[in-house]
Amino acid sequence: FPVERIRNFSIIAHIDHGKSTLADRLLEMTGAIAKTERNKQVLDKLQVERERGITVKAQTASLFYQHDGETYLLNLIDTPGHVDFSYEVSRSISACQGVLLIVDANQGIQAQTVANFYLAFEAQLTIIPVLNKIDLKNADPDRVEKQIEKIFDIPKEECIRISAKLGTNVDQVLQEVVKRIPPPTAKLEEPFKALVFDSTFDHYRGVIANIAVFGGQVCKGDRIVSAHMGKTYEVNELGILRPDERPTEKLYAGQVGYVVAGMKEVKEAQIGDTLYLHKQPVEALPGFKPAKSMVFAGIYPMDQSEYTSLRSAVEKLTLNDSSVTVQRDSSLALGAGWRLGFLGLLHMEVFNQRLDQEYNASVIVTAPTVPYKAVLSSAKLIKEYGEEVVTIVNPAQFPDKSQVVQYLEPMVTGTIITPDDFTGKIISLCLGRRAIQKNMVYIDDHRVMMKYVFPLNEIVVDFYDQLKSMSSGYASFDYEDAGYEPAELIKIDFLLNGRPVEELTTISHGKKINKSYPKKGFIYSSSCLQLCKTGYERQIWQKFKSDNCFRY
Ligand code: GTP
Repeated sequence: FPVERIRNFSIIAHIDHGKSTLADRLLEMTGAIAKTERNKQVLDKLQVERERGITVKAQTASLFYQHDGETYLLNLIDTPGHVDFSYEVSRSISACQGVLLIVDANQGIQAQTVANFYLAFEAQLTIIPVLNKIDLKNADPDRVEKQIEKIFDIPKEECIRISAKLGTNVDQVLQEVVKRIPPPTAKLEEPFKALVFDSTFDHYRGVIANIAVFGGQVCKGDRIVSAHMGKTYEVNELGILRPDERPTEKLYAGQVGYVVAGMKEVKEAQIGDTLYLHKQPVEALPGFKPAKSMVFAGIYPMDQSEYTSLRSAVEKLTLNDSSVTVQRDSSLALGAGWRLGFLGLLHMEVFNQRLDQEYNASVIVTAPTVPYKAVLSSAKLIKEYGEEVVTIVNPAQFPDKSQVVQYLEPMVTGTIITPDDFTGKIISLCLGRRAIQKNMVYIDDHRVMMKYVFPLNEIVVDFYDQLKSMSSGYASFDYEDAGYEPAELIKIDFLLNGRPVEELTTISHGKKINKSYPKKGFIYSSSCLQLCKTGYERQIWQKFKSDNCFRY
């Protein structure tokens, strides 16, 4: 396929603004899928995605589109909408030259619209703003166009107004994709070079790597090398995604598709890795920011007899989601289990839900914690850890105050967009979470965008839920990493019949703990504590059915 007639683009949006619905319409209009009710949201494949109505794993589809008497190949890369998965957004973006930035014409710009805009803007992609849901009675596209001009500096004339649900103006979206988004710069005469932007695991065929070909071509039977691992594989199968796999003989420069090459673990097809032909090495493409675990939790089988089946479930799930980190762990009280690292709280919930739904596993999940750091003073400990600053992902291993110079906690910059009626309440919520306001601007007559620096620990448990409920669902929130800051941290032990259970230890901030539990050394019964709003306490009660206590 001539590169000039290829367009690689992605749809990005705040959650629920209509990406999947628009993707379905585009697929229907280009004949990739039939127009039936049953095909609603074809790109959302996982059961949890269908249930929660959110996209977790990005999917890809190649569309053929007739324009001015020519056939164009449009490669659409669907992306997840939630904060926790912005990692998936950034990797989809690097395989594209342009994006459709969907904004709900009723809700207007939301926290994630802003975050997604900057991901695309920094990658220097063509951004086509699309106002969706103009069929809604309360839609106010004029107001939203003004927001887009004010916040993103994009002239309102560039916005396309559509209803993805009814199909209104969706054809115009396809026309503008062809007109405004440049073709990829890939050249067929160059040596083969491809970017791995996603990978999934299939029980029979092994790893299926989704690739964007940046140069040359690759055929079935070719020997390819992954730059990161330096391993050589033979291509058993390749093809395009429509969105189902359609095997082809070759993939050419500019195309997006999949390869199956006998890789046995997702690790072998690292996201961001470069593939090239055996004996024709090329310079590796700049990789991605690796996924960073922000929330850690211990996972144990409810009953140790289920350990083996849980292990196999965890292994299978992590095969498909390389952003989960896994470490084996074991405890006297809870038996053998794992300490897992997730991108965020929703990521953790989705993972647990999938364990439950897809593998029927019942588990105990310990309270989520964030990766703290400690600057050690004890020479003995420094020798033991081999470094002066250690990261602690397991609160049970939290070094004692007498052995450290300083504790550090991870911080994030949070963006909140809300109707101004709720600003007062939201400001108190943030203050209660030890947040510091950085700025506050009006994005239109009634909506405010606020930036705060939060300790990550303060938002991992139920911050988002509270924000949503106090703003009747109108406020939106997104966050990004903001490094580490010194903090006064205290370890809280959980006692079972008077003895601490290591795995249940949590870390709290001095300021908070002094207020809630003023007497140090005193033992507090769990009923007077408000530590666990995550279902964690309930699970422990179920497991032990005894009077459990906390102390610090
Ligand atoms: P995530 O993948 O979870 O981020 O959501 P999404 O952005 O893909 O949103 P989705 O397509 O699932 O749409 C969210 C809701 O909005 C669904 O209930 C859709 O039916 C509805 N919706 C989408 N487009 C339109 C539209 O043009 N008009 C109206 N009235 N509703 C729409």
